[in-house]
Formats: sequence, C-alpha cells, structure tokens
Amino acid sequence: MSPSSNRSIMVAGGAGEIGEGIVRAYLDRGATVFVPSRNWEMLDTLVDELRDVNGTFVPIHDRTDTFEGALAIKDKILDRTDHIDVVAASLGGVELGERLVDTRLVEWENVLRDNLTSHFITAKIFFPLVEESGGHYVMINFSGGEQPLWNAGPVSIASAAQFMMKDVLCEEARNRETAVTSVVVRTPVSTRAREKQDEGWLSCEQVGRYVAWTTEEGKDLVAGRTIPLDKETYDALAM
Ligand SMILES: NC(=O)c1ccc[n+]([C@@H]2O[C@H](COP(=O)([O-])OP(=O)(O)OC[C@H]3O[C@@H](n4cnc5c(N)ncnc54)[C@H](OP(=O)(O)O)[C@@H]3O)[C@@H](O)[C@H]2O)c1
Repeated sequence: MSPSSNRSIMVAGGAGEIGEGIVRAYLDRGATVFVPSRNWEMLDTLVDELRDVNGTFVPIHDRTDTFEGALAIKDKILDRTDHIDVVAASLGGVELGERLVDTRLVEWENVLRDNLTSHFITAKIFFPLVEESGGHYVMINFSGGEQPLWNAGPVSIASAAQFMMKDVLCEEARNRETAVTSVVVRTPVSTRAREKQDEGWLSCEQVGRYVAWTTEEGKDLVAGRTIPLDKETYDALAM
C-alpha cells in the first residue's frame, strides 16, 4: 500500500496547469483528492483525463475566490470525510506584463488577487483543517520571489510575499505537528497545453510526484522549509 492510500487531500488550484499533475500524483497513490474550481469545463476535462487512476477524484464546483465559496467547499469536503491530511495550494500563475513602474493599477490588483489573496483565502479556510489533523500544508511557488523576473514585477512581489505567508503559518500554527512547506518550481513546466521545449523543464506530473513525496517523508525534512525544485533535484530522487 502506498503511503498516500486512505489519505484525504485537497488540491487548491488542482484544475490548473501544475495542479493537475499534483492531483494525478496523489490519485496514483490511492488517495481521495478533492479539487475545487470555479471552472466546470476544467473539472469535466479532469474527470476524463483522470479516468485511469487508482484513487477517488472528487471535483467540487464552487467559488474559490471568496470566503463564502471556500466555506461552501469546506462543507462539501467535510460531508465526505472527517479529516484532511494534506492541502496543496497551486494558485495563480506566472504572467508577463510591463516594467513595474509601467504596470496599471488594475493589473497589479489582479495579480495580487490571483497570486496572494487566493492563498490567504485558502489558508484562512483550510489551514485549520490541516492543523486539526497535524498534516501537511504545501504552497507551490515560482522563482520570481527569489530572483526578480523581467516584466513580471507584480507576480515576483506576490511570490516573495508567499514565502512570508508560509513562515507566518508556521509561526502561528496551533498544532506544532503541522508541517508547512513551500515548493519553489524553478523551471518552466510542461503540461497538456504546453509541450516540453527544453530538457531542463519539469513536467506537471514530475512536480506532482515531488509534492506528494514531500508530504510522505519525515516532517523534520520539510516542515517550515522552502524547497527549490529543478530537474537535477528531481532526477537525484530517482522517483
Ligand atoms: N506553469 C508553470 O510553468 C510554472 C512554473 C513554475 C512555477 N509555477 C507556479 O505554480 C503555481 C500554479 O501555476 P499554474 O501555471 O498551474 O497556474 P494556472 O494553470 O493558471 O492555475 C492556477 C489555479 O489558480 C486558481 N486561481 C487563479 N486565480 C485565483 C483566484 N483569484 N482565487 C482562487 N483561485 C485562483 C485557479 O482556480 P480555478 O480553477 O478556480 O479557476 C487555477 O486552478 C503558481 O504559483 C506558479 O507561480 C508555474
């Protein structure tokens, strides 16, 4: 039996490009995976794409961008299970725009809403469930928060703030057993919509397997850490 069998996982952003790989990785391990999304079409596509997997896929259509929507999602999850072992949050996305000083206010606000406020809403509603189980809370991030990316100022700034959100969640966790981790994907990622263009790229399935691995290893290895992930790191694990 794989370490994730019988576990309940919630992947926030599971209908997204990277999220799909994370969902697949946990399903392959036999887990029950809850995937909320605002987008019925994406959820229907996932149902088709994930037909061949072992675990139980539970799509949930609701607003992911409001407290009310997230609370409704939480209620639907708790109708099916009494605990959540892992929340993986793969939210937002990397968008190129203008130089920071040329960025319009509306673009700045959109990027912050999608890349930071989305994490706040998810943490506010779902982190307490992970605290209850003493489980894992994993945030997926990109390298713009470590090293500014040209013409991606707002998303780089949101990414840097996301690292601090991880630290704040760690610091304030009521249950010290709770592990909070940032996985920083340092390569572009190939997905169903985007073919691999370079050997150094990871695929969303590889990112997913790595994220699942971080929540199956001893917590002392990952808790509170920011873990950079590139092709070399992935290959070294020989997963
Ligand atoms: N794609 C890459 O090549 C790459 C590379 C390195 C790192 N990353 C990182 O991986 C993470 C996910 O990226 P991605 O490319 O998979 O993004 P994506 O395909 O655009 O998916 C993002 C998900 O975020 C959710 N989302 C967006 N705005 C939201 C909002 N305002 N409120 C609630 N949910 C919101 C969406 O939820 P709905 O389903 O409800 O619409 C969607 O499922 C990001 O942190 C990104 O920086 C991506």
